[in-house]
Amino acid sequence: MTSLNDIRSTFLDYFARQGHAVVPSSPLVPRNDPTMMFVNSGMVQFKNLFTGIETRDYSRATSAQKCVRAGGKHNDLDNVGYTARHHTFFEMLGNFSFGDYFKDDAIPFAWELITDGFGIPKDKLYTTVYHTDEDAFEIWKKVGVPEDRIIRIATDDNFWRMGPTGPCGPCTEIFYDHGDHIWGGPPGSPEEDGDRFIEIWNVVFMQNEQFADGTMVPLEIQSIDTGMGLERIGALLKGSHDNYDTDTMRALIEASAHATSVEPDGEQNVHHRVIADHLRSTSFLIADGVMPSNDGRGYVLRRIMRRAMRHAHLLGAKDPLMHRLVPVLVSQMGQAYPELGQAQALITETLKLEEERFRQTLDRGLKLLDDELAGLPEGSDLPGGAAFKLYDTYGFPLDLTQDALREKGRGVDTEGFDAAMADQKAKARAAWAGSGETADATAWFDLAEAHGATEFLGYDTEIAEGQVLAIVRDGSAITSVSAGEDGAWIIFNQTPFYAESGGQVGDQGFVRSLEAGHDDKGDRVEARITDTQKRGGGLFAHLVKVQNGTLEVGDAVRLEVDHGRRTAIRANHSATHLLHEALRGRLGDHVAQRGSLNAADRLRFDFSHNAALSLEDLEEIEREVNFFIRQNASVETRIMTPDDARAIGAQALFGEKYGDEVRVVSMGKAQTGKGINGDTWSIELCGGTHVSRTGQIGAFVTLGDSASSAGVRRIEALTGQAAHDYLRGQDQLLAETALALKAPAADVPDRVKALMDERKKLENEVAQLRRDLAMAGGASAPEARSVNGIAFHAQALSGVTGKDLAGIIDEHKARLGSGAVLLIADAGGKAAVAAGVTDDLKDRLSAVDLVRAAVPALGGKGGGGRPDFAQGGGADPSQADAAIAAAEDVLKGA
Ligand code: ALA
Repeated sequence: MTSLNDIRSTFLDYFARQGHAVVPSSPLVPRNDPTMMFVNSGMVQFKNLFTGIETRDYSRATSAQKCVRAGGKHNDLDNVGYTARHHTFFEMLGNFSFGDYFKDDAIPFAWELITDGFGIPKDKLYTTVYHTDEDAFEIWKKVGVPEDRIIRIATDDNFWRMGPTGPCGPCTEIFYDHGDHIWGGPPGSPEEDGDRFIEIWNVVFMQNEQFADGTMVPLEIQSIDTGMGLERIGALLKGSHDNYDTDTMRALIEASAHATSVEPDGEQNVHHRVIADHLRSTSFLIADGVMPSNDGRGYVLRRIMRRAMRHAHLLGAKDPLMHRLVPVLVSQMGQAYPELGQAQALITETLKLEEERFRQTLDRGLKLLDDELAGLPEGSDLPGGAAFKLYDTYGFPLDLTQDALREKGRGVDTEGFDAAMADQKAKARAAWAGSGETADATAWFDLAEAHGATEFLGYDTEIAEGQVLAIVRDGSAITSVSAGEDGAWIIFNQTPFYAESGGQVGDQGFVRSLEAGHDDKGDRVEARITDTQKRGGGLFAHLVKVQNGTLEVGDAVRLEVDHGRRTAIRANHSATHLLHEALRGRLGDHVAQRGSLNAADRLRFDFSHNAALSLEDLEEIEREVNFFIRQNASVETRIMTPDDARAIGAQALFGEKYGDEVRVVSMGKAQTGKGINGDTWSIELCGGTHVSRTGQIGAFVTLGDSASSAGVRRIEALTGQAAHDYLRGQDQLLAETALALKAPAADVPDRVKALMDERKKLENEVAQLRRDLAMAGGASAPEARSVNGIAFHAQALSGVTGKDLAGIIDEHKARLGSGAVLLIADAGGKAAVAAGVTDDLKDRLSAVDLVRAAVPALGGKGGGGRPDFAQGGGADPSQADAAIAAAEDVLKGA
C-alpha cells in the first residue's frame, strides 16, 4: 500500500471498525481559536472536548486533518523544498478519545495498525515514553516491544502541549529505523537529529490543562489525541524517507516538470518540490476562504504564492504556471476533499491573477537584487534598505528575498529591514498627523499600526472566536468595559461582523465569554454588539453594550452575528443587485446606481433616471426580480483586477476608486425570449454579503418610486418575510373592507381593488397639488436669493405637512441646480422644518447644520439627517422668520 489515498482510508477504516466516528477535516482557518493562524494538527477542532466544555454524540473520533504550517507559531516555509520532510501543507491522521479509552487501548490500537494494518516490520520500530510514565512503558512491553526498544525521554519532546495554554499531557512516540545507510541515532541519543530514526506517530495522553499563569491542573477526563503525518508514513511504505516520493507529491512534481519542460529529478528538482508543496497549501487555503492580501492570513497566502512563483520563474516559466497545475491537484485530492473541486474555478483564477500581477515586478526586482549584490563585497549580507525596497516597491516578501539569497549563500540584514520598515511607518504617521485629522482618528491610526487590519471572516461564517485587541471610548484607549458603561468600541483580531460599507448596514450580534473564560470576578461575560463600523487602517470597530461581567483587552471571546438579521440583510443586498439589472433592462443603460441602503427591514436603491416610473414599469420590474429569485441560481464571488471585471461587464459605482483587486458578485442566468441562455445576468463589483442562491431572497415587493434628488429616483422594496408580511397586510385590508361592506365575497376583491386604486390616485393627486401649491409660492414665497454666493430659497408654507417637505425640497433643488433650500411648514400648530443642499455644495454646507440652526428659533431641539437632506421640528411655527435668519447665518459662514 503506497498511495496516500489508500493509506488515508486504511487509517480511517481501521478506527471506524474500533467504534470511532469518522469526522471530516475542519477548515484550515480555525473557528474555535482566535490566536491560531491556521489549523496545525488534528486535535484543534476537538480542543473543547478535551477540556470538557463541549460534548458531542460520540466519544471516539478519527480524522484526516488538513494542516498548514506557515506563518504563526509553527512556520516551516523557509525550509520547504530543501529538505525531505518540511511542508507548508500536510495531512495529519489521528484517532481521538474524549474521556473514553486511555493508554490501555490507545497503545495496542497504534501497534496493531502499524504492524498488521500497514505491515511495517516490528524489528524496524522503536518507541519512546515520558520518563515518569511507567504505565505506558508496561503497556508497550505487553504488546511485545522489547524493553531495549522502549526509550525513556525526560524532555518536552515527550510532553505535548498545544500552545502556551490548553490541554496537554505526556506522550509516547513510534519511530522507524530507516537503516544504517543513513546517518542518525535513536531518540535521546546525541545523533537523534539525523535522518535514520524518524518519528511516525505521536500518541498524546491528554490529562492536564495548562493556564496562562503557568499553573497546570489535571483534567476531569482522561483523553487521547494522536497524530501521524500522512506524507511521512506514505514515504516510509514506499521504502523512502523523502515525503516528496509519495504518489501525490510525485504527480504534482511531474506536472510541474511537464509544464516547464524541465526534467523532474535533475538539478532543478528543488523548484519542482517548492511548487508541488506550495500548490497544495495555496489551493487549500483559497478553498477555505483565504484570499491574498497584505495582512494576516491573506499575507501568508501571498508570501507562499510569490515564493512558488519565483521558483517557477527559475524553471524558466514564461507564463503563469501554478494555475495550470490545479487540475492535477484536484484529480489527486479532490475525492478526499470535495471543497477543492467546488472551489476549482476560484483557485485557478486567484492563482492566475496573482501570478500575472507579480510577474510585472518580479523581473525588475530580481534585477535590482543582482545589481545590489554585484556592488557588495563577496559573501556579505544584503543591506536591510535594499531588502525593504524590494518589499515596498516590487512586492517581494522578506522571506522571498531570503530564499533567493539562500541559493547564493547569503543572508539579509533583517535589523536594517525592520528599521527601514519602522522609518516608513513613522513617516506615514507624520503625514497623517499633519493632515488635520481629529484626535479620534489618530487613536484609530495608532491602533491600526499596532495591530494591523482586522481579519474579516464573515463571508464564510457567522460565528468565530476573536481576541479583544483594544477598547476605545471617546477617542481614548481603555483596558476594560463593564455592564452599564456605554459608548465603547471594541477591536477584535478577527471578526465575522460586517462593518457598514457599500450601502450595507453594520452587523449586530452577541459577544460571550468562552465557557471556561469567565472574567476575574467569575461572571460570565454577555454583551451585545449594536453596530459595526470601519475605521482607518482596515480596523473594524464594534459598538458594544455589556450586559453582564467585564470585557478586557486580551480576552478571547465568542462572536456571534445575529443570524436572522444578517439573513434579511443578505437577501436585501442580493435583491438590490437583481433590481439594478431589472431597472436597466426596463428603463435603459443610463440607469446607474447613485446610492443604496441594505438594511434588515428593507432596501432602498437610488438610480439615475429623469422621470417617475409608471405603474406598469414598477410591476414589470417586480415581476422580473421575482423571476430571477425563482431561478434559484447560485451566487458566485470572484476576485479580479478592475480591468478584468470591466471586461466581463461588471457594474461599478461611478467615481468610486477601486484598488488593485476587486470582488465581483454575479448571479442569475439571462433570459432570451422564452428560454434561458447561459449568460450571467447580474455582475457587480461588491464587497457585501450575499445569499448563496437567489431563491433564498424568497420574494420581492416594491413600495413605490419617488424622487431622491434632481435626476435621481428612489425605489424602496421588501424581501423575504417582510415582503410576505406586507402582502398579508394588504390582503387583510381587503378582507376587512369586504366584511364592512357585507358584499358578496366574489365581487369584493374587484370592487375593493378599484376603490383602492382610486384612493391611491387621489392621494397622489393631493400630494402633487400640495407640492404645486408650494412651488407656486403662496403669499409668502420669496425668490431665491444669493447668500455668500449660494442660491438660497427659504419659505414658510401652510397647507402642507412635514411629510410633504422632502418632495418639495427636491423640486426646488432641481429648479435651482445649485443651492440650498429651507422650508418651514405650519403643521397643525407645530412647526416642521426641512433643509436641502445640492450635491455640488456638500463640501461647504450641510443641510443638518441649517436645520440645527433653525430648530431652536422654532422652540425645538436637535434635528438630523444627511448633508443633502435634513429635518427637524419645533412647537412655534410663528417664528419662521427668525428660523430663516438663523439658517442664513450658517450660510454666511459657509
Ligand atoms: N496533537 C499531537 C501532535 O500534533 C498528536 O503531534
